Amino acid sequence: MASKTFTMKFFSLLISSFAIIQMAMAGDPDILTDFIVPPNVTNVDGNFFTFTGLRDLFKGGPSTTLKVSKVSLAEFSALNGQSVSYTVLGYLAGTTNPPHIHPRASELLFVVGGTLQVGFVDTTNKLFTQTLQTGDIFVFPKGLVHFQYINADAQIPVVAIAAFGSANAGTVSIPNTLFTTGIDDVVLAKSFKTNTTTIEALLAGLAPPMP
Ligand SMILES: *[C@@H]1O[C@H](CO)[C@@H](O)[C@H](O)[C@H]1NC(C)=O
Ligand SMILES: *[C@@H]1O[C@H](CO)[C@@H](O)[C@H](O)[C@H]1NC(C)=O
Repeated sequence: MASKTFTMKFFSLLISSFAIIQMAMAGDPDILTDFIVPPNVTNVDGNFFTFTGLRDLFKGGPSTTLKVSKVSLAEFSALNGQSVSYTVLGYLAGTTNPPHIHPRASELLFVVGGTLQVGFVDTTNKLFTQTLQTGDIFVFPKGLVHFQYINADAQIPVVAIAAFGSANAGTVSIPNTLFTTGIDDVVLAKSFKTNTTTIEALLAGLAPPMP
């Protein structure tokens, strides 16, 4: 009997250590070459590893909305297999980056100018919030719902750089995913314990989801 218990304990230990190894490996797959060159690129030099698309980012004055400039696999093909990407975010007073998830990566947010409110919710539904100042870095754990916003009374625009541990972290916007993808109003009304009129009013204010 004692040895049976031991065997069971041994197997559960074995299974949980495999689970830990799998968790540690959950990220972009390793590649077997130094880098990956797309088939249509014939000349690989320094330019291939350079992204210049953000040079104009701050030209033309601040925008009135949240400005999100992604530099991921889709924008910068040299990131393929490198497990890193950036997004540069510009916020004006009163703007919000609505609750969203990056399914494939943790996010390291570096505030390079201004004061920014951030928050995320863990899988026990505990909310963590913080007010970040210029120079602060905040980590959003992988796959958790998070958001950023600027208080309406803060007049200084905020610029932050988000680094991701994936070349293609992916974004699931909670409002858009729920309200603009064609899920039946009845399902949503029941889920939010309200009526379809309220659901229609919510989705009317939302833009179609980004690809
Ligand atoms: C290669 O193809 C991609 C995707 O169609 C395109 O974005 C890129 O500009 C192309 N690169 C070259 C050097 O033609
Ligand atoms: C829907 O719900 C809202 C908010 O509870 C309420 O004000 C409204 O009267 C309801 N409309 C209908 C048609 O039931």
